[in-house]
Amino acid sequence: MLAIRIDDFGDPSVLKLEEVPDPVAGADQTLIEVETAGVNFGDILVRKGEYFGRKALPVIPGWEVVGEALTADPDGAFGAGDRVVALLDGNGYAQRVAAPLRDTVPVPDSVSDQVALAMVIQGATAWRLLENLKPGQSVLVSGAGSGVTHLVVQLARLRGAGEIAVVSSGGEKSERVLELGADLVVRSEGDDTLQERLAAGLEGRRFDLAIDMVGGETLQAMLRQLRPGGRAVIYGVAGGEPAKVNTGALLKNGLTVSGLWLGYSEGWSLREIMAGLFELVETGKLAPTLGPTFPLARAGEAHRAVEARTGVGKVTLDCRNP
Ligand SMILES: NC(=O)c1ccc[n+]([C@@H]2O[C@H](COP(=O)([O-])OP(=O)(O)OC[C@H]3O[C@@H](n4cnc5c(N)ncnc54)[C@H](OP(=O)(O)O)[C@@H]3O)[C@@H](O)[C@H]2O)c1
Repeated sequence: MLAIRIDDFGDPSVLKLEEVPDPVAGADQTLIEVETAGVNFGDILVRKGEYFGRKALPVIPGWEVVGEALTADPDGAFGAGDRVVALLDGNGYAQRVAAPLRDTVPVPDSVSDQVALAMVIQGATAWRLLENLKPGQSVLVSGAGSGVTHLVVQLARLRGAGEIAVVSSGGEKSERVLELGADLVVRSEGDDTLQERLAAGLEGRRFDLAIDMVGGETLQAMLRQLRPGGRAVIYGVAGGEPAKVNTGALLKNGLTVSGLWLGYSEGWSLREIMAGLFELVETGKLAPTLGPTFPLARAGEAHRAVEARTGVGKVTLDCRNP
């Protein structure tokens, strides 16, 4: 089969289409003939050798695929030949994958490959970030161009959130999150510090929940906008710098800071979350922002599109027509 393999870490040119051996399904796995693979921000970090330390080379990147299951689920969740979507432990930029049964989910006919893929990592992350949100609670989110943010804003609205504010680096991205249901946007770029900009832009508002994937100065500034007893959930460090957290302020204000990573699989079920997400998609209540689909061989261009930060939406790879 054909797959995109990384033999050296580096820029997008290291993503090379190669003939590689077919995967073999282990216990508790099914083989999937891949139609479309999802591209994620984390794939960029894998390619650069920066994802939670370097993975051993060679690497086939990619954590989510949609395609045809070649064997049935023993518990009856899907049959052989059914269209399924799966969350993987890597090796997704390929024409065939071995996927864990418990993270393989049937896709409703009315849901496109691109939408199904946007529901896996981005959708499940957004769902889990809001798990403990109570109606009326206010939310402050970083990253107006992020696919996860676009789903967080819509899901928070559906769950009866109070005010939703988004920290944004750019004009069109700001308009998009306002269309999706955010109440206000604060620009992250300017001459003064982010802390000063947030304080001015939010005009004294305090938030129950801060959701951050930038880290560094952004998270530090967002923590200052929490009300006493508020919570922050961190799910990424896209800016590359972890934040220095003032533990004294956490103590004094009774704040909680926690991390969320989908790779930590205890205590949640992808199948249950996907069922909830697909229901919202099918009833027209939730719609991810979709970006371009590239042939598998052009995975490098797909990575450039994600790295450009132009807010293009969910980027995918066509593995049927590589
Ligand atoms: N913990 C988990 O399990 C999990 C799951 C999914 C995603 N993530 C992480 O969450 C983040 C967003 O994922 P996504 O799928 O929504 O990605 P995405 O749609 O590609 O959006 C990327 C986001 O990262 C921001 N960004 C990129 N480079 C940046 C930089 N140098 N400084 C500041 N911001 C930067 C972008 O900012 P702009 O808005 O300004 O363009 C954009 O909001 C990524 O860091 C990803 O690794 C984590």
